[in-house]
Amino acid sequence: MSNPPIPAASCVVVSGGSRGLGLAIVQSILDHGAKVATFARTVTPELEALAAAHPDRVHVASVDATDAKAVTAFIKEAERKLGPVDGLVNNAAIGQDSLHVHTSPERIADIINTNLTAPLVLSRTVLRRILSGRGTGRVVFVTSICAQRGYAGLVAYSATKGGLDSAMRTIAREMHGRVLANSVAPGFFASEMSSVLGQTQLDTITRRTPTGRLVEPENVVPVIDMLLFEDTNINGQTLVIDGGGSI
Ligand SMILES: NC(=O)c1ccc[n+]([C@@H]2O[C@H](COP(=O)([O-])OP(=O)(O)OC[C@H]3O[C@@H](n4cnc5c(N)ncnc54)[C@H](OP(=O)(O)O)[C@@H]3O)[C@@H](O)[C@H]2O)c1
Repeated sequence: MSNPPIPAASCVVVSGGSRGLGLAIVQSILDHGAKVATFARTVTPELEALAAAHPDRVHVASVDATDAKAVTAFIKEAERKLGPVDGLVNNAAIGQDSLHVHTSPERIADIINTNLTAPLVLSRTVLRRILSGRGTGRVVFVTSICAQRGYAGLVAYSATKGGLDSAMRTIAREMHGRVLANSVAPGFFASEMSSVLGQTQLDTITRRTPTGRLVEPENVVPVIDMLLFEDTNINGQTLVIDGGGSI
């Protein structure tokens, strides 16, 4: 006897929804009619406006992803307000722009704490809620093409993204048909994180990309929507969105 499809997510936690790709993900989840709970260290005016426009479908707070107790309290508060959580987009991360030999041990620890430990703890918390609630759900990790190809200046960052891709595959196994777990791995797109790249670097990346244009958040969001809402049976995969730059 085969299992039924895992239903579309109806209430999704998004880490780092205050700007950039995270904000676009939050907006799109709302456009799909689902509820969203999102946090970042700073709640931006854009996020405040979304919360004011959809008071019954949005929960927003200022939370540091590395503070596990605060994250758990945030999820509990979100469930009190919105109902059971059944989806997660692990989006929050910090960048890096320093050669490995010039990156301090403290900075390496920060990057690992924010980009690897925090998403693992957050996904553990959400998966426990899913298993004790509706019993099925969807989890998406935002990783990076850096996990698959080498880019100077991103050693610790790349390690965390590769770590998440590996963890995602094993979560897909452990959840054994109750949760679809996948990653999206974008190429470079314009955001606060990538603003360290100069025009020459951006021109080089564009020239090396077969589609001849850089990725935009608008290219990544529909893929995340598909993983959250469609019945695709995609599970344990990393979907690369980079215009073919890495082929
Ligand atoms: N931009 C690129 O070229 C690129 C390429 C591939 C993959 N990605 C990935 O795409 C995702 C989004 O990146 P982006 O470019 O949109 O970056 P961004 O504009 O810098 O946004 C990062 C988000 O994460 C939040 N965040 C960072 N540290 C946090 C913490 N400790 N606690 C809570 N929230 C935290 C930020 O808010 P606060 O600072 O207010 O906390 C912000 O909302 C990341 O996972 C990134 O690694 C980016």
